[in-house]
Amino acid sequence: MNGGKGVPIELRGVTKVFPGAGEPAVQDLDLTIEAGETVVLLGPSGCGKTTTMRMINRLTEPTSGDILIGGRNARDIDPDRLRRGIGYVIQQAGLFPHMTVAGNIAQVPRLLGWDSRRVSERVDELLALVGLEPATFRDRYPRKLSGGQQQRVGVARALAADPPVLLMDEPFGALDPINRARLQDELLRLQEELAKTIVFVTHDVDEALKVGDRIAIMQRGSRVVQYASPAEILAHPADDYVEQYLGGGSSMRLLSLTKVGDIGLDQVPHATEDTDARDLHAQAEADGRGYALVLDRQRRPRRWVTTAALAGAEGTAGEVEGEPAEVLIGGRTTLQEALEALLNTDNDVVPVVGRRQVYAGAVSLGTVQQAIQAIKSRERDRRRRHHGDGA
Ligand SMILES: Nc1ncnc2c1ncn2[C@@H]1O[C@H](COP(=O)(O)OP(=O)(O)OP(=O)(O)O)[C@@H](O)[C@H]1O
Ligand SMILES: [Mg+2]
Repeated sequence: MNGGKGVPIELRGVTKVFPGAGEPAVQDLDLTIEAGETVVLLGPSGCGKTTTMRMINRLTEPTSGDILIGGRNARDIDPDRLRRGIGYVIQQAGLFPHMTVAGNIAQVPRLLGWDSRRVSERVDELLALVGLEPATFRDRYPRKLSGGQQQRVGVARALAADPPVLLMDEPFGALDPINRARLQDELLRLQEELAKTIVFVTHDVDEALKVGDRIAIMQRGSRVVQYASPAEILAHPADDYVEQYLGGGSSMRLLSLTKVGDIGLDQVPHATEDTDARDLHAQAEADGRGYALVLDRQRRPRRWVTTAALAGAEGTAGEVEGEPAEVLIGGRTTLQEALEALLNTDNDVVPVVGRRQVYAGAVSLGTVQQAIQAIKSRERDRRRRHHGDGA
């Protein structure tokens, strides 16, 4: 089922003028999408996102220009064949109401002439993949599903024949924030496994930042104002339009894109419980912060002790009284969540643990701030190298 790994898509000078329209819906668009990448088209209503997408699967024919899919010109591929290799998910899922869930998902496999056993196995596999219990859902009709369930079926249907390319046009637009976030997470998880090439349309900035490897920010006529990673767009919006579109909060958003495991961690004075308390005291004194962290023998954070409590102690660090170190975060926590944890404890640092809860370091407000500055300067350097102008 991992047959359909993504292929690159390239749009070269693509223009679409609808009959009778004054200006082109899409004008001279160049866009390169790498194999296995999720690219988000982000822009205001009417800027040409859907039109761009529908030209990729030839539901709309370009007026001029070329679209290469896996190196082949879409124009030279029979449209029906082309569409079997491109899953398409639209807002409201667009399921056929008179067909069961299984019937909807099975559509393309049946067109491809799969035998019924293979089709039904595939249906169950896909339902499980999108988080719907096959026995419960396969024979239901779409109207008996919630919006979120319909969307999941829509995604399952698009994936049915394991196509290398997935086009998703505001697929989660009609959902409440909770289901929306859930399906976004599901998509990220799926994508880690399937590595499709995905073109994803949304107006929602946060959704774009979350699901996109790269984001194309568009204006009327599908004019691309910036095409870059979420971190680069946040750290260095190309112009006022992009900045306005993002609508502020860029540093906060960078926090939500960055994982604790990817930044330079702080270190607090620490020692295992069998260490001589005087050694930990010396460490804490040298550090000057006024506290230290005692670890158990497996190096898991145990409790916070103050320098004052350590001062008179004669035995082991484990015998010194302190506050239990209850709030811990893992490397996959986002900086935003880390900040949240910091704001909700009395301490000015939160320990970070790795595998088996082993102490790895700590995060403080200063660490978070430094990490954001580091991301900004890294993105700046990357851009300079990219443009080779040193400006
Ligand atoms: N079939 C059509 N015939 C004529 N004009 C069309 C057709 N489809 C789209 N357009 C026009 O092309 C432009 C781009 O439309 P498109 O649907 O691609 O925008 P969009 O970016 O997807 O907008 P939205 O965010 O509202 O979905 C619009 O001005 C629209 O009116
Ligand atoms: Mg649209």
